Amino acid sequence: MPKPATANYGMTISITSKDNGMKGKFPINRFERIDTPFYYYDTALLRKTLEAIKAEAVKHKNFVVHYAVKANANAKILNIIRESGLGADCVSGGEIQAAIKAGFPSNSIVYAGVGKSDWEIELGLEKNIFCFNVERTAELQVINELARQKMKVARVAFRINPDIGAHTHANITTGLAENKFGIAMQDMEQAINTAQQLTNVSFVGLHFHIGSQITDMGDFIALCNRINELQDKLEQHHINVEHINVGGGLGIDYQHPNRVPIPDFKDYFNTYAKHLKLRDGQQVHFELGRAVVGQCGSLITKVLYVKQGTAKKFAIVDAGMTDLIRPALYHAYHKIENISSNSAPEPYDVVGPICESSDVFAKQTELNQCERGDLLAIRSAGAYGEIMASQYNCRRLPTGYTSEEMI
Ligand code: LLP
Repeated sequence: MPKPATANYGMTISITSKDNGMKGKFPINRFERIDTPFYYYDTALLRKTLEAIKAEAVKHKNFVVHYAVKANANAKILNIIRESGLGADCVSGGEIQAAIKAGFPSNSIVYAGVGKSDWEIELGLEKNIFCFNVERTAELQVINELARQKMKVARVAFRINPDIGAHTHANITTGLAENKFGIAMQDMEQAINTAQQLTNVSFVGLHFHIGSQITDMGDFIALCNRINELQDKLEQHHINVEHINVGGGLGIDYQHPNRVPIPDFKDYFNTYAKHLKLRDGQQVHFELGRAVVGQCGSLITKVLYVKQGTAKKFAIVDAGMTDLIRPALYHAYHKIENISSNSAPEPYDVVGPICESSDVFAKQTELNQCERGDLLAIRSAGAYGEIMASQYNCRRLPTGYTSEEMI
């Protein structure tokens, strides 16, 4: 008689009862009452991560950290991040609305985006956000005109493409001349001159972002060196820059979420402190996404079937690429654990139910022996997980639960 995949399994509780229903960091006895797949957020880890960021950032009096809302806009997560005092980095009107709803002060919001619609610019103007990160002079003209209509002056920074390659996945590098982002370095002064002639924009800063999931500090050093060159050039023309926004990009350890749950923020901020030559009173803004929320989230999914193929075993699970698209889109690695079983590990291909061959979470990954009904945790899924979920195949969007809700 096959086991129903949705039931509570006494068998899984029996292996965890020794440690009070916890399997590692997971309250598995609670999990068994929740429909899968779902996201689980360890808020104690999120809070520790935020504390680590603050502890390191405050050592540098001119460092200001924003959270890149694109990584995860779950309202409960946004609230915790807002409580910690970080500002918000938004890339759409929807993100500005989500940030304001979560209580981020509007003057802590920076707004970037390669194509901003008029209503999004108008929203930013109405809310008096801190700064628009502008990607071309044509956009500057639009912002100027919309600001004029509202009798406001928009604070603008130029996003400069520094032509620096980051050692990361090709799909998430953004700072190369061939990428669609930003103003070319040789056009920077012209753009600033244009801004200075317009009445309803005020030029306040430069913005950069070279890519995401960067673990080699050398990439950030290269960015610092480039910014130093550009600043020297501007200084010769007596152009004053109030703030430098270096974007985000700090990576997390997808291989070892347990051993390295919190990224090395000390090294990260020290790299900028050491290599970026700041002028008097200049502020440095950061837009961190993945490094803030990546490790606190796991996608919890249930094994529907174990299939013995001719050469290998498949664990067919109820989560799919609609819930977590990173493996299908970037061949991204996420560590997977069978949190219901203590049996000896064996290799599985972990695949979802979507009608796409790329609906694969991992190939030949070692999992404690799986059977129908087991719960798997797909780790390091707090960033670009829930927020990138889709309803392809008319599926339900996954719900996100915090550890605080499970107590
Ligand atoms: N600032 C700008 C202008 C950005 O474009 C991004 C990310 C960030 C900040 C935040 O970067 P982070 O600190 O999270 O690396 N979906 C991809 C990642 C796309 C990142 C897009 N931009 C993934 O799942 O790996």
